[in-house]
Amino acid sequence: MTTSAAPTAKPAVVKDPSLFKDLGGLPVIQKVVADFVALMLADDRIKHTFRDTDLKRLDKTLVEQFCDLSGGGCIYTGDPMKEVHQGLQLTNAHFNALVEDLQLAMDKSDIPSHVQNRLLALLAPMQRDTVTR
Ligand code: HEM
Repeated sequence: MTTSAAPTAKPAVVKDPSLFKDLGGLPVIQKVVADFVALMLADDRIKHTFRDTDLKRLDKTLVEQFCDLSGGGCIYTGDPMKEVHQGLQLTNAHFNALVEDLQLAMDKSDIPSHVQNRLLALLAPMQRDTVTR
């Protein structure tokens, strides 16, 4: 008897690159992330959580993550979301504050709300990995 598995030509995850393009590509993602981090660091609701954070690494990994999620072909080199946020005691209110800051950052780059919502929809499932109380 011969058993031969069919070759799997497709990569495990095929992402639609249209969101990456609609966001404006890497230069816009880099600007959004820079504004996003600045807004979070100025936000009294959540700035305390970043007290001990390597901001250069945060900036780099957020760019990679948003580029990867939107189909831009970047590779996320950060740690798993659950691991990273475990000790931070984050609440839904913290999560909502972060989303507001990201929306403001995307507004600054004139990203239309229907495009913003596509990125936010990809981030929404991460609420359960980041909020622990
Ligand atoms: C969709 C939700 C979120 C995403 C996509 C996200 C993404 C990230 C990424 C990519 C990192 C860096 C990972 C690494 O260094 O390996 C990070 C770290 C961090 N995030 Fe988030 N995050 C989310 C929710 C939150 C929330 C709600 C807060 C607090 C309000 C928060 C606070 C932090 C802090 C303080 C760090 C640095 C941790 C450390 O220095 O060890 N994050 N996040």
